[in-house]
Amino acid sequence: MTVAALDVSTFAFTEAAPAKVNLYLHVTGRRADGYHLLDSLVVFAGAGDVLHYQPGPEPLHLHITGRFGRVLDASAAGADNLVIRAAQALQALGGAQAHVQGGTLVLEKKLPVASGIGGGSADAAAALRLLDRAWNVQASRADLLALAQTLGADVPVCLLSQTMRMEGIGEELTPAPHLPECGMVLVNCGQAVSTPEVFRRRAGAFAPRATMPQSWANLADVMAFIEQQGNSLEQAACEVCPPVAHVLADIGGQEGCLMARMSGSGATCFGLFATPQAARQAADRLEDAHSAWWVWGGGLV
Ligand code: C5P
Repeated sequence: MTVAALDVSTFAFTEAAPAKVNLYLHVTGRRADGYHLLDSLVVFAGAGDVLHYQPGPEPLHLHITGRFGRVLDASAAGADNLVIRAAQALQALGGAQAHVQGGTLVLEKKLPVASGIGGGSADAAAALRLLDRAWNVQASRADLLALAQTLGADVPVCLLSQTMRMEGIGEELTPAPHLPECGMVLVNCGQAVSTPEVFRRRAGAFAPRATMPQSWANLADVMAFIEQQGNSLEQAACEVCPPVAHVLADIGGQEGCLMARMSGSGATCFGLFATPQAARQAADRLEDAHSAWWVWGGGLV
């Protein structure tokens, strides 16, 4: 099937892959294998990639479309793609009741690549959810989470796609109080940032584990808590990608912005606002001022 002939509106299965945002991210230690121990409050934004699947007799294959599909080269849709690796891992897990099929997967890449908001991890997690349903694998939550972990540190939290406290290297997940209604702006300057490089450059003492409240009375409560936390990777990301500092200043300068921070290992930064509408208005202004930036505004999942 040629890309031009792909009409995803006729596809049988669709799954959203929402962007993950680290409201704070503390690097609390380092394991002997080099992976870093984290403490993070993770939320999911209304922005995201979308995965479509049409079962068929042909071997399973992936097309990548969308604004950021174009920045990936042809090899990105090959066997190394996390979506294909997720499908193969799920196939291996499927028991007698599974109805594993081939067919066409289409990944609409709406999120910038290598940008600290999940991207590939969210795509892999969406593939696990979608194909578990489509193939009737009926994998347990524990099995899916274990499988997710083999695909990447952020894949387990993306599998759940709900507000979570994330610890360990990403595999220790505990429910965190859902945020009161608020708005979020996401901004990426267009420079891909290598996660391993940012972790390598991180310097200084490890941060402590945060003391998280059991619940939030209101948004001011959330802000007061997050204000006291930080992102241990922000400085290293600014060295690798200097525009991050500019992006943070521009988001923070927007009317109604309650706080601006970087997510994950960057370079995407976020701003929190009182309402999704206020966030959309700020996003419109930022987009007008910086046509080369990727800007999104809206609410949380
Ligand atoms: O697990 P994932 O492939 O997403 O991680 C990419 C890289 O980021 C790892 O190879 C490692 O260098 C770094 N990383 C880390 N500690 C984490 C997560 C990622 O050092 N908790």
